[in-house]
Amino acid sequence: MTRTVILEVNREKPEKPKIKSAADVIRNGGLVAFPTETVYGLGADALNAKAVKRIYAAKKRPLDNPIIVHVATEQETLQLTKNIPLKAKKLISVFWPGPLTLVLRACEKVPKAITGGLDTVAVRMPRHNVALALIEESGVPIAAPSANRSGRPSPTTAEHVRQDLDGRIEMILDGGSTNIGVESTVLDVTVDPPEILRPGGTTYEELVKIVGQVKIHPAALAEKSVRAKVPSPGMKHRHYAPTAELVLVEGSVESTVEKTQQIINYNLRIGKRVGVLATDETKDMYEADVVKSLGSRADLSSAARSLFRLLREFDEDKVDIIVAEGVPLEGLGLAVMNRLRKASNYRIVKAD
Ligand code: TXA
Ligand code: MG
Repeated sequence: MTRTVILEVNREKPEKPKIKSAADVIRNGGLVAFPTETVYGLGADALNAKAVKRIYAAKKRPLDNPIIVHVATEQETLQLTKNIPLKAKKLISVFWPGPLTLVLRACEKVPKAITGGLDTVAVRMPRHNVALALIEESGVPIAAPSANRSGRPSPTTAEHVRQDLDGRIEMILDGGSTNIGVESTVLDVTVDPPEILRPGGTTYEELVKIVGQVKIHPAALAEKSVRAKVPSPGMKHRHYAPTAELVLVEGSVESTVEKTQQIINYNLRIGKRVGVLATDETKDMYEADVVKSLGSRADLSSAARSLFRLLREFDEDKVDIIVAEGVPLEGLGLAVMNRLRKASNYRIVKAD
């Protein structure tokens, strides 16, 4: 057991002494969870293979799932990578700091523990003053996956991190709720056109505006389980799952509401406690044990922000099954649907 220290920090102007003590932990090979604009990350010195291995142990993460390296300057990216393509430079200048992770050619000094043995490394610069201050003060790039137990919904508050990792890491910096709520977009720029491996906080539409053609890997759509070869082993692991089973209903709004209520009724009849993940427009139409709303269908950023918190809440409500409505695959909806499809373990019902 490690004693986990929780420090509240000001998200706009992080207090220097607190950042200093967290940076000491990182430099000594320890683990610090910290807020980013997307979700909380579990950080360690990226150049210290032993420290990176502790991340896998704390999260119970499969060893073949590579980890994103977080930097505070473009200079650090140059030190970790080689042959950065022109399109990547363009994306960096537009989207960094921000929720875009770039998969680039790794240089030799990047530990294999981070890349899962691949010859590429994923790099991002978070748009969060606490994260940036921690990286700067540590003086090293910080390797950080989401700070949840492997397979659980990603944490959007320090309390979520505590629930999953208390006693397993040295420190949690509590900077309040994260803003975007889903992880960064992972974009492979070692191929042309660039390819989205995981949809996230930077939308497909935004990327297309800057670099023209962008591909979306079938595994990123998560319409069904991919067992074939994928660019990143992490893409085939189960993710984001609450304890309750989840069924996802996809289709037009009217058919979705009808189908969702049918599934609710069946499960109530067989004695299950049923939760519904609805939207503002539809939430009053359901009869079930617990109904929660992702927010308005007209504003998918609210759905992204609340998704992981709501999935955790359903577990506290002790529902046996969650019936979730799909949302449109536009903007942040693509990232939300990727998470919901994976959380459902591909139990997807087509309503139309
Ligand atoms: O927003 C985020 O990206 C958060 C915050 C903490 O920065 N981090 C995050 O990390 O979501 P994680 O480990 O939960 O997800 C990293 C994803 C995984 O799907 C992994 O397979 C992929 O990035 N990845 C990492 N390195 C890669 C590489 N070299 N090639 C392909 N995919 C890679
Ligand atoms: Mg994760």
